[in-house]
Amino acid sequence: MYELSILVTGGAGYIGSHTIVELLNKGYDVIVIDNFSNSHPEALRRVSEITGEEFKIYNIDILDRLGLEKVFSENSIEAVIHFAGLKAVGESVEVPLHYYKNNITGTLNLCEMMQKYNVKRLVFSSSATVYGNPKTVPISEDFPLNATNPYGRTKLMIEEILRDLYVSDNQWSITILRYFNPIGAHVSGIIGEDPTGIPNNLLPFISKVAIGELKEVKVFGNHYPTKDGTGIRDYIHVVDLALGHLHALENNLKTKGISTYNLGTGKGYSVLEIISAFEKASGRKIPYTITEQRPGDVAVCFANPVKAKRELQWTVERGIEEMVADSWRWQCQNPSGYREENKILTVTG
Ligand code: NAD
Ligand code: WQD
Repeated sequence: MYELSILVTGGAGYIGSHTIVELLNKGYDVIVIDNFSNSHPEALRRVSEITGEEFKIYNIDILDRLGLEKVFSENSIEAVIHFAGLKAVGESVEVPLHYYKNNITGTLNLCEMMQKYNVKRLVFSSSATVYGNPKTVPISEDFPLNATNPYGRTKLMIEEILRDLYVSDNQWSITILRYFNPIGAHVSGIIGEDPTGIPNNLLPFISKVAIGELKEVKVFGNHYPTKDGTGIRDYIHVVDLALGHLHALENNLKTKGISTYNLGTGKGYSVLEIISAFEKASGRKIPYTITEQRPGDVAVCFANPVKAKRELQWTVERGIEEMVADSWRWQCQNPSGYREENKILTVTG
Protein backbone atom coordinates (compact mmCIF):
# COMPACT_ATOMS: atom_id res chain seq x y z
CA MET A 1 0.00 0.00 0.00
CA TYR A 2 1.23 3.51 -0.88
CA GLU A 3 1.44 6.05 1.94
CA LEU A 4 0.06 8.92 -0.07
CA SER A 5 -3.39 8.96 -1.59
CA ILE A 6 -4.79 9.70 -5.02
CA LEU A 7 -7.75 12.07 -4.77
CA VAL A 8 -10.41 11.35 -7.39
CA THR A 9 -13.02 14.07 -7.94
CA GLY A 10 -16.21 12.89 -9.61
CA GLY A 11 -15.20 9.35 -8.68
CA ALA A 12 -18.76 8.01 -8.51
CA GLY A 13 -19.36 8.82 -12.18
CA TYR A 14 -19.07 6.59 -15.21
CA ILE A 15 -15.37 6.99 -16.01
CA GLY A 16 -14.33 7.75 -12.42
CA SER A 17 -15.78 4.53 -10.99
CA HIS A 18 -14.01 2.40 -13.62
CA THR A 19 -10.76 4.24 -13.02
CA ILE A 20 -10.94 3.70 -9.26
CA VAL A 21 -11.27 -0.05 -9.85
CA GLU A 22 -7.95 0.01 -11.74
CA LEU A 23 -6.26 2.26 -9.17
CA LEU A 24 -7.31 -0.01 -6.29
CA ASN A 25 -6.28 -3.12 -8.24
CA LYS A 26 -2.85 -1.55 -8.64
CA GLY A 27 -2.57 -0.92 -4.87
CA TYR A 28 -3.18 2.84 -4.77
CA ASP A 29 -4.93 4.38 -1.81
CA VAL A 30 -7.94 6.30 -3.15
CA ILE A 31 -10.04 9.15 -1.75
CA VAL A 32 -13.21 10.19 -3.57
CA ILE A 33 -15.01 13.52 -3.71
CA ASP A 34 -18.42 13.60 -5.37
CA ASN A 35 -21.62 15.58 -4.87
CA PHE A 36 -23.63 12.80 -6.57
CA SER A 37 -25.30 15.34 -8.86
CA ASN A 38 -25.01 12.88 -11.74
CA SER A 39 -24.19 9.62 -9.98
CA HIS A 40 -25.14 7.33 -7.13
CA PRO A 41 -23.17 6.21 -4.03
CA GLU A 42 -24.13 2.65 -4.96
CA ALA A 43 -21.56 2.83 -7.78
CA LEU A 44 -18.81 3.24 -5.19
CA ARG A 45 -20.14 0.41 -3.03
CA ARG A 46 -19.92 -1.80 -6.11
CA VAL A 47 -16.36 -0.66 -6.80
CA SER A 48 -15.55 -2.06 -3.34
CA GLU A 49 -17.42 -5.24 -4.20
CA ILE A 50 -15.31 -5.71 -7.36
CA THR A 51 -11.97 -4.91 -5.75
CA GLY A 52 -12.49 -6.03 -2.15
CA GLU A 53 -11.04 -2.65 -1.11
CA GLU A 54 -12.49 0.14 1.01
CA PHE A 55 -11.74 3.82 0.48
CA LYS A 56 -12.77 7.21 1.86
CA ILE A 57 -15.72 8.97 0.24
CA TYR A 58 -16.54 12.66 0.75
CA ASN A 59 -19.99 13.83 -0.31
CA ILE A 60 -18.73 17.30 -1.20
CA ASP A 61 -19.29 19.79 -3.99
CA ILE A 62 -16.08 21.17 -5.46
CA LEU A 63 -17.79 24.58 -5.37
CA ASP A 64 -17.70 24.26 -1.56
CA ARG A 65 -14.30 25.64 -0.62
CA LEU A 66 -14.60 24.76 3.07
CA GLY A 67 -15.49 21.19 2.15
CA LEU A 68 -12.46 20.96 -0.13
CA GLU A 69 -10.24 22.40 2.59
CA LYS A 70 -11.43 19.67 4.95
CA VAL A 71 -10.41 16.96 2.46
CA PHE A 72 -6.95 18.46 1.91
CA SER A 73 -6.33 19.09 5.60
CA GLU A 74 -7.39 15.60 6.69
CA ASN A 75 -5.37 13.62 4.11
CA SER A 76 -1.93 13.36 2.56
CA ILE A 77 -2.64 13.64 -1.11
CA GLU A 78 -0.03 12.90 -3.73
CA ALA A 79 -2.00 13.60 -6.91
CA VAL A 80 -5.50 14.45 -8.08
CA ILE A 81 -7.47 12.91 -10.94
CA HIS A 82 -10.15 15.47 -11.71
CA PHE A 83 -13.30 14.04 -13.32
CA ALA A 84 -15.92 16.16 -11.54
CA GLY A 85 -17.88 18.21 -14.03
CA LEU A 86 -21.11 18.48 -15.95
CA LYS A 87 -20.97 16.98 -19.44
CA ALA A 88 -24.26 17.25 -21.36
CA VAL A 89 -23.70 19.33 -24.50
CA GLY A 90 -27.39 20.23 -25.04
CA GLU A 91 -27.94 21.17 -21.41
CA SER A 92 -24.83 23.37 -21.51
CA VAL A 93 -26.47 25.45 -24.27
CA GLU A 94 -29.58 25.91 -22.10
CA VAL A 95 -27.83 26.73 -18.81
CA PRO A 96 -24.35 27.96 -19.76
CA LEU A 97 -23.74 29.85 -16.51
CA HIS A 98 -24.38 26.71 -14.52
CA TYR A 99 -21.80 24.88 -16.65
CA TYR A 100 -19.20 27.65 -16.43
CA LYS A 101 -19.67 27.90 -12.68
CA ASN A 102 -19.62 24.19 -11.96
CA ASN A 103 -16.80 23.22 -14.29
CA ILE A 104 -14.57 26.30 -14.24
CA THR A 105 -15.12 27.68 -10.74
CA GLY A 106 -14.99 24.12 -9.43
CA THR A 107 -11.63 23.54 -11.11
CA LEU A 108 -10.29 26.90 -9.87
CA ASN A 109 -11.27 25.99 -6.30
CA LEU A 110 -9.58 22.63 -6.65
CA CYS A 111 -6.36 24.06 -8.09
CA GLU A 112 -6.22 26.77 -5.42
CA MET A 113 -6.57 24.16 -2.70
CA MET A 114 -3.93 21.99 -4.36
CA GLN A 115 -1.58 24.96 -4.47
CA LYS A 116 -2.25 25.80 -0.83
CA TYR A 117 -1.49 22.23 0.29
CA ASN A 118 1.43 21.89 -2.11
CA VAL A 119 -0.21 19.08 -4.10
CA LYS A 120 0.96 19.83 -7.62
CA ARG A 121 0.17 16.70 -9.58
CA LEU A 122 -3.04 16.79 -11.61
CA VAL A 123 -4.63 14.58 -14.26
CA PHE A 124 -7.53 16.39 -15.95
CA SER A 125 -10.49 15.01 -17.96
CA SER A 126 -10.71 16.96 -21.17
CA SER A 127 -12.52 15.90 -24.30
CA ALA A 128 -12.17 15.48 -28.06
CA THR A 129 -14.88 18.13 -28.21
CA VAL A 130 -12.07 20.73 -27.93
CA TYR A 131 -11.11 19.95 -31.55
CA GLY A 132 -14.48 21.30 -32.80
CA ASN A 133 -14.96 20.35 -36.44
CA PRO A 134 -11.56 18.92 -37.43
CA LYS A 135 -10.29 19.61 -40.97
CA THR A 136 -8.79 16.12 -41.28
CA VAL A 137 -8.65 12.84 -39.37
CA PRO A 138 -7.03 11.21 -37.47
CA ILE A 139 -6.82 14.04 -34.97
CA SER A 140 -3.47 14.76 -33.31
CA GLU A 141 -2.95 16.72 -30.12
CA ASP A 142 -1.47 19.69 -31.99
CA PHE A 143 -4.60 20.26 -34.14
CA PRO A 144 -6.33 23.66 -33.82
CA LEU A 145 -8.71 23.92 -30.87
CA ASN A 146 -12.20 25.29 -31.28
CA ALA A 147 -15.10 24.23 -29.11
CA THR A 148 -18.59 24.76 -30.50
CA ASN A 149 -20.74 24.75 -27.35
CA PRO A 150 -20.52 25.96 -23.72
CA TYR A 151 -19.59 22.49 -22.40
CA GLY A 152 -16.72 22.25 -24.85
CA ARG A 153 -15.64 25.79 -24.02
CA THR A 154 -15.43 24.89 -20.31
CA LYS A 155 -12.94 22.16 -21.25
CA LEU A 156 -10.99 24.47 -23.52
CA MET A 157 -10.89 27.26 -20.93
CA ILE A 158 -9.79 24.87 -18.19
CA GLU A 159 -7.00 23.57 -20.45
CA GLU A 160 -5.83 27.18 -20.90
CA ILE A 161 -6.06 27.89 -17.19
CA LEU A 162 -3.90 24.82 -16.53
CA ARG A 163 -1.33 25.95 -19.11
CA ASP A 164 -1.17 29.39 -17.41
CA LEU A 165 -0.87 27.72 -14.02
CA TYR A 166 2.12 25.70 -15.18
CA VAL A 167 3.79 28.79 -16.67
CA SER A 168 3.40 30.54 -13.31
CA ASP A 169 4.87 27.65 -11.33
CA ASN A 170 6.79 24.89 -13.09
CA GLN A 171 6.74 22.67 -10.04
CA TRP A 172 3.38 21.44 -11.29
CA SER A 173 2.93 18.18 -13.18
CA ILE A 174 -0.26 18.42 -15.24
CA THR A 175 -1.64 15.80 -17.62
CA ILE A 176 -4.55 16.74 -19.85
CA LEU A 177 -6.41 13.74 -21.29
CA ARG A 178 -8.73 14.24 -24.25
CA TYR A 179 -11.18 11.36 -24.35
CA PHE A 180 -12.96 10.30 -27.50
CA ASN A 181 -16.25 8.31 -27.05
CA PRO A 182 -16.17 6.04 -24.00
CA ILE A 183 -18.64 3.14 -24.04
CA GLY A 184 -18.85 -0.34 -22.48
CA ALA A 185 -18.73 -1.31 -18.84
CA HIS A 186 -16.72 -3.37 -16.38
CA VAL A 187 -16.83 -7.04 -17.36
CA SER A 188 -18.57 -7.92 -14.06
CA GLY A 189 -21.64 -6.01 -15.33
CA ILE A 190 -22.10 -4.37 -11.94
CA ILE A 191 -20.78 -0.90 -12.77
CA GLY A 192 -21.52 1.02 -15.96
CA GLU A 193 -22.98 4.17 -17.45
CA ASP A 194 -26.21 5.25 -15.77
CA PRO A 195 -27.60 8.39 -17.41
CA THR A 196 -30.60 10.12 -15.84
CA GLY A 197 -33.63 10.55 -18.09
CA ILE A 198 -33.52 9.98 -21.83
CA PRO A 199 -29.89 9.39 -22.84
CA ASN A 200 -28.15 11.92 -25.09
CA ASN A 201 -25.37 9.61 -26.20
CA LEU A 202 -25.65 6.84 -28.74
CA LEU A 203 -24.76 3.74 -26.70
CA PRO A 204 -27.03 4.28 -23.71
CA PHE A 205 -29.82 5.13 -26.17
CA ILE A 206 -29.31 1.90 -28.14
CA SER A 207 -29.25 -0.07 -24.87
CA LYS A 208 -32.60 1.38 -23.80
CA VAL A 209 -34.09 0.48 -27.18
CA ALA A 210 -32.68 -3.06 -26.98
CA ILE A 211 -34.25 -3.56 -23.58
CA GLY A 212 -37.61 -2.21 -24.76
CA GLU A 213 -37.64 1.00 -22.72
CA LEU A 214 -37.43 3.22 -25.81
CA LYS A 215 -39.09 2.47 -29.14
CA GLU A 216 -36.39 3.13 -31.71
CA VAL A 217 -33.02 4.77 -32.25
CA LYS A 218 -33.09 8.06 -34.10
CA VAL A 219 -30.07 8.07 -36.37
CA PHE A 220 -29.07 11.71 -36.70
CA GLY A 221 -28.59 12.03 -40.46
CA ASN A 222 -27.34 9.73 -43.23
CA HIS A 223 -25.94 12.28 -45.65
CA TYR A 224 -22.51 12.76 -44.10
CA PRO A 225 -19.55 12.12 -46.40
CA THR A 226 -18.93 8.69 -44.82
CA LYS A 227 -19.24 5.12 -46.14
CA ASP A 228 -22.91 4.73 -45.10
CA GLY A 229 -23.71 8.43 -44.62
CA THR A 230 -23.92 8.27 -40.80
CA GLY A 231 -21.51 9.92 -38.35
CA ILE A 232 -18.23 8.21 -37.48
CA ARG A 233 -16.73 8.25 -33.98
CA ASP A 234 -13.82 6.72 -32.08
CA TYR A 235 -15.53 4.52 -29.48
CA ILE A 236 -13.23 3.42 -26.67
CA HIS A 237 -13.90 0.80 -23.99
CA VAL A 238 -14.23 2.54 -20.61
CA VAL A 239 -11.86 0.00 -19.02
CA ASP A 240 -9.17 0.82 -21.61
CA LEU A 241 -9.83 4.49 -20.85
CA ALA A 242 -9.50 3.78 -17.11
CA LEU A 243 -6.19 2.00 -17.75
CA GLY A 244 -5.12 5.06 -19.76
CA HIS A 245 -5.55 7.08 -16.54
CA LEU A 246 -3.34 4.66 -14.67
CA HIS A 247 -0.58 5.03 -17.26
CA ALA A 248 -1.04 8.81 -17.31
CA LEU A 249 -0.88 8.98 -13.52
CA GLU A 250 2.27 6.88 -13.34
CA ASN A 251 3.92 9.13 -15.90
CA ASN A 252 2.68 12.24 -14.07
CA LEU A 253 4.15 11.02 -10.76
CA LYS A 254 7.61 10.73 -12.36
CA THR A 255 7.72 14.09 -14.12
CA LYS A 256 7.05 17.80 -14.01
CA GLY A 257 5.54 19.76 -16.89
CA ILE A 258 2.30 19.89 -18.77
CA SER A 259 1.33 17.35 -21.44
CA THR A 260 -1.77 16.56 -23.44
CA TYR A 261 -2.82 13.16 -24.76
CA ASN A 262 -5.62 11.81 -26.89
CA LEU A 263 -7.20 8.72 -25.38
CA GLY A 264 -8.88 7.01 -28.31
CA THR A 265 -8.43 3.86 -30.36
CA GLY A 266 -7.57 5.45 -33.71
CA LYS A 267 -10.48 3.58 -35.35
CA GLY A 268 -13.84 5.00 -36.36
CA TYR A 269 -17.23 3.30 -36.54
CA SER A 270 -20.43 4.66 -38.07
CA VAL A 271 -23.76 4.82 -36.22
CA LEU A 272 -25.14 1.99 -38.37
CA GLU A 273 -22.07 -0.17 -37.67
CA ILE A 274 -22.60 0.34 -33.94
CA ILE A 275 -26.28 -0.57 -34.19
CA SER A 276 -25.37 -3.71 -36.12
CA ALA A 277 -22.63 -4.69 -33.62
CA PHE A 278 -25.12 -4.22 -30.78
CA GLU A 279 -27.70 -6.39 -32.55
CA LYS A 280 -25.11 -9.14 -32.81
CA ALA A 281 -24.08 -8.90 -29.16
CA SER A 282 -27.64 -8.77 -27.83
CA GLY A 283 -29.34 -11.09 -30.30
CA ARG A 284 -32.07 -8.45 -30.53
CA LYS A 285 -33.31 -6.32 -33.41
CA ILE A 286 -32.67 -2.60 -32.86
CA PRO A 287 -35.31 -0.62 -34.76
CA TYR A 288 -34.13 2.76 -36.04
CA THR A 289 -35.24 5.66 -38.21
CA ILE A 290 -33.15 8.25 -39.97
CA THR A 291 -33.88 11.78 -38.74
CA GLU A 292 -32.37 15.24 -39.21
CA GLN A 293 -28.71 15.86 -38.41
CA ARG A 294 -28.19 16.97 -34.80
CA PRO A 295 -27.03 20.62 -34.74
CA GLY A 296 -23.34 20.88 -33.94
CA ASP A 297 -22.51 17.25 -34.86
CA VAL A 298 -19.37 16.62 -36.87
CA ALA A 299 -19.21 14.00 -39.64
CA VAL A 300 -16.07 12.13 -38.60
CA CYS A 301 -13.98 12.20 -35.45
CA PHE A 302 -11.24 9.78 -34.51
CA ALA A 303 -7.95 10.02 -32.71
CA ASN A 304 -4.35 9.66 -33.59
CA PRO A 305 -3.37 7.83 -30.39
CA VAL A 306 0.38 7.42 -31.07
CA LYS A 307 1.54 10.04 -28.57
CA ALA A 308 -0.11 8.18 -25.67
CA LYS A 309 1.35 4.92 -26.95
CA ARG A 310 4.85 6.37 -27.21
CA GLU A 311 4.97 8.42 -24.00
CA LEU A 312 2.54 6.61 -21.70
CA GLN A 313 3.11 3.08 -23.02
CA TRP A 314 -0.67 2.72 -23.32
CA THR A 315 -2.72 1.07 -26.05
CA VAL A 316 -6.26 -0.23 -26.12
CA GLU A 317 -6.92 -3.94 -25.71
CA ARG A 318 -10.68 -4.17 -26.27
CA GLY A 319 -12.42 -4.10 -29.65
CA ILE A 320 -15.91 -3.00 -30.64
CA GLU A 321 -17.49 -6.45 -30.03
CA GLU A 322 -16.31 -6.41 -26.43
CA MET A 323 -17.44 -2.81 -25.98
CA VAL A 324 -21.03 -3.46 -27.03
CA ALA A 325 -21.20 -6.87 -25.30
CA ASP A 326 -20.13 -5.25 -22.02
CA SER A 327 -22.62 -2.37 -22.47
CA TRP A 328 -25.35 -4.96 -23.01
CA ARG A 329 -24.37 -7.05 -19.98
CA TRP A 330 -24.48 -3.95 -17.75
CA GLN A 331 -27.87 -2.95 -19.22
CA CYS A 332 -29.38 -6.43 -18.72
CA GLN A 333 -28.14 -6.81 -15.18
CA ASN A 334 -29.18 -3.28 -14.21
CA PRO A 335 -32.27 -2.27 -16.17
CA SER A 336 -32.82 0.66 -13.80
CA GLY A 337 -29.14 1.49 -13.40
CA TYR A 338 -28.13 1.97 -9.78
CA ARG A 339 -31.70 2.57 -8.60
CA GLU A 340 -33.24 0.07 -6.24
CA GLU A 341 -36.01 -1.36 -8.38
CA ASN A 342 -33.45 -3.34 -10.39
CA LYS A 343 -34.54 -6.63 -11.80
CA ILE A 344 -31.91 -8.97 -13.15
CA LEU A 345 -32.53 -10.10 -16.72
CA THR A 346 -30.66 -12.87 -18.46
CA VAL A 347 -27.88 -11.70 -20.76
CA THR A 348 -28.46 -12.76 -24.35
CA GLY A 349 -25.61 -13.27 -26.80
P1 NAD B 1 -20.29 11.50 -14.99
O1 NAD B 1 -21.34 12.56 -14.98
O2 NAD B 1 -20.71 10.09 -14.94
O3 NAD B 1 -19.23 11.77 -13.80
C1 NAD B 1 -18.94 13.05 -13.33
C2 NAD B 1 -19.04 13.01 -11.82
O4 NAD B 1 -18.76 14.30 -11.28
C3 NAD B 1 -20.45 12.63 -11.32
O5 NAD B 1 -20.34 11.62 -10.36
C4 NAD B 1 -20.98 13.93 -10.71
O6 NAD B 1 -21.87 13.67 -9.64
C5 NAD B 1 -19.68 14.60 -10.25
N1 NAD B 1 -19.77 16.05 -10.15
C6 NAD B 1 -20.21 16.94 -11.07
N2 NAD B 1 -20.12 18.19 -10.60
C7 NAD B 1 -19.57 18.10 -9.37
C8 NAD B 1 -19.24 19.05 -8.36
N3 NAD B 1 -19.46 20.36 -8.52
N4 NAD B 1 -18.70 18.61 -7.21
C9 NAD B 1 -18.49 17.29 -6.99
N5 NAD B 1 -18.79 16.35 -7.90
C10 NAD B 1 -19.34 16.75 -9.07
O7 NAD B 1 -19.38 11.77 -16.28
P2 NAD B 1 -18.24 10.86 -16.91
O8 NAD B 1 -18.74 10.37 -18.21
O9 NAD B 1 -17.71 9.92 -15.91
O10 NAD B 1 -17.17 11.98 -17.23
C11 NAD B 1 -16.12 12.29 -16.33
C12 NAD B 1 -15.34 13.48 -16.87
O11 NAD B 1 -14.88 13.17 -18.19
C13 NAD B 1 -16.18 14.75 -17.02
O12 NAD B 1 -15.38 15.86 -16.67
C14 NAD B 1 -16.54 14.78 -18.49
O13 NAD B 1 -16.74 16.10 -18.95
C15 NAD B 1 -15.30 14.16 -19.11
N6 NAD B 1 -15.55 13.51 -20.41
C16 NAD B 1 -16.55 12.59 -20.52
C17 NAD B 1 -16.79 12.00 -21.76
C18 NAD B 1 -17.90 11.01 -21.95
O14 NAD B 1 -18.33 10.82 -23.09
N7 NAD B 1 -18.40 10.35 -20.92
C19 NAD B 1 -16.00 12.34 -22.87
C20 NAD B 1 -14.98 13.29 -22.70
C21 NAD B 1 -14.77 13.87 -21.46
C1 WQD C 1 -22.24 9.60 -31.37
C2 WQD C 1 -22.77 9.48 -32.80
C3 WQD C 1 -24.41 11.14 -33.33
C4 WQD C 1 -27.36 9.72 -30.42
C5 WQD C 1 -20.51 13.53 -27.15
C6 WQD C 1 -20.02 14.89 -26.74
C7 WQD C 1 -18.53 14.86 -26.55
C8 WQD C 1 -18.11 13.73 -25.60
C9 WQD C 1 -18.71 12.42 -25.99
C10 WQD C 1 -17.95 14.63 -23.41
C11 WQD C 1 -22.93 10.81 -33.51
C12 WQD C 1 -25.03 9.77 -33.34
C13 WQD C 1 -26.24 9.88 -31.21
C14 WQD C 1 -28.57 9.31 -31.05
C15 WQD C 1 -27.43 9.24 -33.16
N1 WQD C 1 -18.57 13.96 -24.27
N2 WQD C 1 -26.26 9.65 -32.54
N3 WQD C 1 -28.54 9.08 -32.40
O1 WQD C 1 -21.72 13.60 -30.04
O2 WQD C 1 -19.71 12.14 -30.59
O3 WQD C 1 -19.89 13.17 -28.38
O4 WQD C 1 -20.11 12.56 -26.16
O5 WQD C 1 -16.94 15.26 -23.54
O6 WQD C 1 -18.19 16.10 -26.06
O7 WQD C 1 -20.37 15.82 -27.75
O8 WQD C 1 -21.40 11.33 -28.92
O9 WQD C 1 -22.87 9.45 -28.38
O10 WQD C 1 -23.89 11.74 -28.64
O11 WQD C 1 -23.02 10.55 -30.66
O12 WQD C 1 -27.47 9.02 -34.38
O13 WQD C 1 -29.61 9.16 -30.40
O14 WQD C 1 -24.09 8.92 -32.74
O15 WQD C 1 -24.94 11.94 -34.37
O16 WQD C 1 -22.63 10.60 -34.86
P1 WQD C 1 -20.71 12.63 -29.61
P2 WQD C 1 -22.85 10.76 -29.06
